[in-house]
Amino acid sequence: MKEYNFKLAIFGLGYIGLPTASLLADKGFPVIGVDINAGNVDLINQGISPIMEPGLDSLVENVVKKGYLKATPDGLAAAKESNVMIVVVPTPVDSNKCSDLSAVVSACDTISQGLDKDDLVIIESTVPPYTCERIVIPILERSGFKAGDEFKVAYTPERALPNNTLFEMTHNARIIGGIDHESSTKAAYIYQKITKGEIILVDNLVTAEMVKLMENTYRDTNIALANEMALICEKLDIDVFEAIKAANFHPRVDIHTPGPGVGGHCLSIDPYFIVEIAERHGIPARLIKTSREVNEHMPHHVALMVQTALKEAGKTVEGSSVGILGVAYKGNVADSRETPAGPLIRDLIIQGADVAAHDPHVDPVTILALGARPVKLEEALKCDCTVLLTDHDQYRDLKPEMIKSRAFICTRPQINPEEFKGKGFIFKSLGRPG
Ligand SMILES: NC(=O)c1ccc[n+]([C@@H]2O[C@H](COP(=O)([O-])OP(=O)(O)OC[C@H]3O[C@@H](n4cnc5c(N)ncnc54)[C@H](O)[C@@H]3O)[C@@H](O)[C@H]2O)c1
Repeated sequence: MKEYNFKLAIFGLGYIGLPTASLLADKGFPVIGVDINAGNVDLINQGISPIMEPGLDSLVENVVKKGYLKATPDGLAAAKESNVMIVVVPTPVDSNKCSDLSAVVSACDTISQGLDKDDLVIIESTVPPYTCERIVIPILERSGFKAGDEFKVAYTPERALPNNTLFEMTHNARIIGGIDHESSTKAAYIYQKITKGEIILVDNLVTAEMVKLMENTYRDTNIALANEMALICEKLDIDVFEAIKAANFHPRVDIHTPGPGVGGHCLSIDPYFIVEIAERHGIPARLIKTSREVNEHMPHHVALMVQTALKEAGKTVEGSSVGILGVAYKGNVADSRETPAGPLIRDLIIQGADVAAHDPHVDPVTILALGARPVKLEEALKCDCTVLLTDHDQYRDLKPEMIKSRAFICTRPQINPEEFKGKGFIFKSLGRPG
């Protein structure tokens, strides 16, 4: 295979950018990491990872010490010094559920000012279809160079799972689409160095953009189905978890796990990127929108469970204390972006509850920003009602005798409900009888 002398600049050193930069630096690429967060840039240059992710601390320390990774807030200098620019900046949705591409626009604008002939720009941020063609390339061409002929552009989505990011980045298959074949093969050369997974070259940029959105929309829709089944089973006194487990023995059935809602920076956002472009083209994307609706309803359903449980305990939400166990959007991570804890806490506060929350991974400032009082586990278990919301491993060790609340609500298949029934407090479990 042809060898290239690539010097990389990675724009965005967050949950995805920093592991990517570190793995590439570990393979011997000179990497400049660019981030607008000066505090994180300082930490990284001291060899400290600001991102909590297994294995990342030592990897960052190692590649910084060896001089393969350095960080800077100066994107223009980094773009001038490098011949491959990778963009991994955030792409949230705004209050109207439309994509906010301002960070991609800003990073590409900086890159365009430092772009040289024959450079390669790779977009990794999750974006709506046609973002590369209609937004990224026109900005990059402000450099005076023509995309395809004079510089190369590729899109490759990231699919690594938080808490297992390094393993997945080095083992998952990698989808790559380019403006032309040379763009894809140059990008493939880079990612082949870090992944044992298959490299799948798709026809063009927009197909690669769509693949990522399809994957997450499939998962969001599947969870919505599981959540809808949970709501139905709860009413019919059927244990949804047992039913799904049995149904999944069917060789062509794979129903996901119900829960209190879908959070994180991917599943709860990416489907809207498809809806946005579909609606613009006259397709209502009904199934995708309904799935979002079902999943966004789940925290409100949990709030209703709190209300019912407190009523059975002779109390109202108003004036009661509610303890939330876990505000991260999923188990064993510190990430609380788009967490179902947000709408649940808001619902309870609006109804007059005093909401406390415990989370072994999320810092107290973030818990406060979500509207809850950060408390120790023992204190959360003393509230009038306690809700197990996030499937952190720590909560598997809960025992009925630890619970001093009048009501306990379980929204995850973390504990055996049979152990918690009839133990002197009201017990309710999402998607299960009772
Ligand atoms: N976190 C995930 O699990 C995951 C998985 C797959 C894909 N993605 C996608 O990857 C992209 C990045 O996500 P993330 O979770 O790493 O985000 P993040 O918020 O953790 O990190 C993004 C970083 O980019 C920096 N940044 C913002 N604007 C910048 C700019 N103009 N120039 C340089 N740096 C800038 C921020 O300061 C931040 O440190 C998003 O599009 C996301 O959808 C994320």
